[in-house]
Amino acid sequence: MSTATRDSVHGKLWTWLDQRIGLADFEKLARKKQVPVHRHGVWYYLGGMTLFLFIVQVVTGTLLLFYYRPSAEEAYESVQFLMAEVEFGWLIRSIHAWSANLMILALFIHLFSVLLLKAYRSPREVTWFSGVGLLAIALGFGFTGYLLPWNELAYFATKVGTEITGAVPLVGRFLLRLLRGGDEVTGATLTRFYGIHVAVLPGLVMLVLGLHLYLVQKHGMSVPLPVERQGDRRTMPFVPNFLLRDIVGWLCALAILAALAAFIPAELGRKADPFAPAPVGIKPEWYFMFMFQTLKYLPSHILGLEGEIVGIVGFGLGGLYLLLIPFLDRRAARGQPSPLFTWIGILVIVYIVVLTYLGYAASPTR
Ligand code: HEM
Repeated sequence: MSTATRDSVHGKLWTWLDQRIGLADFEKLARKKQVPVHRHGVWYYLGGMTLFLFIVQVVTGTLLLFYYRPSAEEAYESVQFLMAEVEFGWLIRSIHAWSANLMILALFIHLFSVLLLKAYRSPREVTWFSGVGLLAIALGFGFTGYLLPWNELAYFATKVGTEITGAVPLVGRFLLRLLRGGDEVTGATLTRFYGIHVAVLPGLVMLVLGLHLYLVQKHGMSVPLPVERQGDRRTMPFVPNFLLRDIVGWLCALAILAALAAFIPAELGRKADPFAPAPVGIKPEWYFMFMFQTLKYLPSHILGLEGEIVGIVGFGLGGLYLLLIPFLDRRAARGQPSPLFTWIGILVIVYIVVLTYLGYAASPTR
């Protein structure tokens, strides 16, 4: 900071704070940070976009807490009141619902872009592990949040979803009871999901996201192998060049969110009735659809084992593969091209897109 500005009120405040919390260190850090410039650079914005949408979730979720009541008797009515009576309540709830979907979409694109660019190569293995942890947490937020309005569709989707958990070999029964707070989906399940949604997962996310962002800061952005080999070393300063571009993206996301929330507000449907027959068209959130649809296609028995169990174990192994990629992809670790892992990644993307489409094509609209 120059001497002229150091003497101004703003400068005095800066000096006061700097002496107490070390602002100059942050300034030095921000000035030093550079972002590589190359033709794959657009993917560097996806992590920041996920982070922005997550912050929108925290703010709108906190506002929803002022009115929401977590019990089977009052949850639905409290959301109904929020939508009909509270000023802009419908908007806050709709933004929370849309931003959750857009956040998971941004997260998937972020995941697959860092996967295909092999950004998990040494020394970023732990950045990758923490990312997989964030994926699990985000899916947990989606699964638990879906039930909270206690409407018919969410009730039966949760029944099916937790039933699938119950089919996990060895620990399934335990997991089912742990999630449901008993044998059935009841008010006890709602209370549990609420606790997980507003306390357990936010606590975990602070830890894992903190680690993720610290590691991104520590290692800087990775440069994809082909760019590295070309010897292209161009960079741009993070502050202000990259940050301003980030902010333009966030403002666009905010505009899209506002438009979606205003024109297609979140629905509430009918209140859940555990004794009513299951309605037609029960479906999970879109990001679980490919798994749901796969389980539907599997025959009832595969090699003498129950088809559903084979499917669940298959997805478990898929998750393990995703987690361990930095160790499995030895060629990338040595700085060599690894087309096999690129092709597996592309096949997984195609599989998810096709099965999601088939899931929606097969489920009747109400
Ligand atoms: C709530 C979820 C997440 C948030 C908020 C988040 C945030 C970020 C941010 C801000 C960056 C730096 C900018 C960028 O590269 O885009 C980053 C980088 C990274 N993220 Fe994430 N991330 C999340 C989930 C994930 C997931 C699911 C994975 C993969 C399994 C992942 C793996 C990585 C890796 C490997 C990098 C380093 C990229 C590089 O150095 O080129 N992240 N993340």
